[in-house]
Amino acid sequence: MAKSKVLVVGGTGYIGKRIVKASLAQGHITYVLQRREMGLDIDKIQMLLSFKKQGARLIQGSFSDHQSLVDAVKQVDVVICTMSGVHFRSHNILLQLKLVDAIKEAGNIKLLHILYIRWGLVH
Ligand SMILES: NC(=O)c1ccc[n+]([C@@H]2O[C@H](COP(=O)([O-])OP(=O)(O)OC[C@H]3O[C@@H](n4cnc5c(N)ncnc54)[C@H](OP(=O)(O)O)[C@@H]3O)[C@@H](O)[C@H]2O)c1
Repeated sequence: MAKSKVLVVGGTGYIGKRIVKASLAQGHITYVLQRREMGLDIDKIQMLLSFKKQGARLIQGSFSDHQSLVDAVKQVDVVICTMSGVHFRSHNILLQLKLVDAIKEAGNIKLLHILYIRWGLVH
């Protein structure tokens, strides 16, 4: 299988950490977005350091800094977004449009995968 350069956004989350591990296990060059807003969250920092030990590369970035997102996605060819709150009532769904904008500007991404679940919708 061809190896990709994969950026995981939301990598310290419940799903994200599993995606990071799976990507590394499959031999992909795996990047994890280290958001400025994580600040001194010790659990997140420890997890990021553990990813780094396992071979992941950390990229600094912020949803409040468009250029940082463009620079991050320019380094990869696949983006997997595992941000929380991706349902219709959450502001995070709009936040992710910033990632889409950065991907459009960067122009190099072959695949964007956004994880989501539609809670409580009655069809
Ligand atoms: N958990 C499940 O069993 C499950 C099942 C099916 C689908 N899903 C879907 O998978 C996605 C991820 O779920 P999860 O349970 O893994 O979520 P989670 O652990 O609650 O959070 C995932 C990540 O979202 C990022 N995040 C949260 N608020 C943010 C904000 N304001 N700005 C930027 N990033 C923010 C954080 O990433 P950082 O690492 O950057 O801090 C956080 O680690 C959701 O769409 C969920 O609906 C989850």
